[in-house]
Amino acid sequence: MASDALVLREIDAFYGDSHVLHGVSLRLGEGRLLGLLGRNGAGKSTSMNVTVGLLPPRHGAVTVFGSGVTGRTPEAIAAQGVALVPQGRRVFRSLTVRENLAVAGRRPQGRLPMLWTLETVFALFPTLRERHQQIAGSLSGGEQQMLAIGRALMSNPRVLLMDEPSEGLAPQIVAEVMSTIRRLKEQGLSIVLVEQNVKLAFDVADDIVILNSGRVAVEGQTAELQRRGLDLRQLLGIY
Ligand SMILES: Nc1ncnc2c1ncn2[C@@H]1O[C@H](COP(=O)(O)OP(=O)(O)O)[C@@H](O)[C@H]1O
Ligand SMILES: [Mg+2]
Repeated sequence: MASDALVLREIDAFYGDSHVLHGVSLRLGEGRLLGLLGRNGAGKSTSMNVTVGLLPPRHGAVTVFGSGVTGRTPEAIAAQGVALVPQGRRVFRSLTVRENLAVAGRRPQGRLPMLWTLETVFALFPTLRERHQQIAGSLSGGEQQMLAIGRALMSNPRVLLMDEPSEGLAPQIVAEVMSTIRRLKEQGLSIVLVEQNVKLAFDVADDIVILNSGRVAVEGQTAELQRRGLDLRQLLGIY
């Protein structure tokens, strides 16, 4: 059986007194792609923030390839090989493309090979090579998304978390981003893809988790959920 790349077990998380995640558990198998769905405010980004150590959970555990990382710093969790492409891209707008990538560089965990360098990121996204001296803030939305993905890859992760990478992009650019995600999966990365677009997630994901009001409403293999013909609108909390 494939090992688990990432496990969240019974996570409770709060912003101040506001209880946002209620016993959220999810499991990402090594080399698999998990689609994390839910409408706005369901707790998707909060789950990612807990995973990368930006928001310590009040209860529960986070495990990366069998190592407990609950409550560790973002730096320590990154060193375990977890990278987040944040919602809204969040590149350094006043730095150049090359500088954005260079500052994100990190050697891979343990003795894993160094897959991602400026050269290999530029090979994946030739547009970024062409624009390497350009200020990131002047890139189009799609180019900024590529740069955000490139920045995450520069840390040579084993687990890649992508928080709504298709948000606000034109359909053709979304298709490019999705094909990049497929290629990264083929290279063996374990991926969580946060999406509001059900069709996009079902197209690429091996497994699906749907959050509703900070709780897991449904989970399972994509093919199995499709066979069951679920009422996704209801599960997503859209009435
Ligand atoms: N920094 C914050 N402070 C307080 N509440 C927040 C903060 N970020 C998110 N929330 C609230 O937590 C809930 C879950 O948000 P979020 O995880 O961003 O949802 P999603 O990513 O699924 O849209 C929402 O009710 C949201 O308003
Ligand atoms: Mg979000």
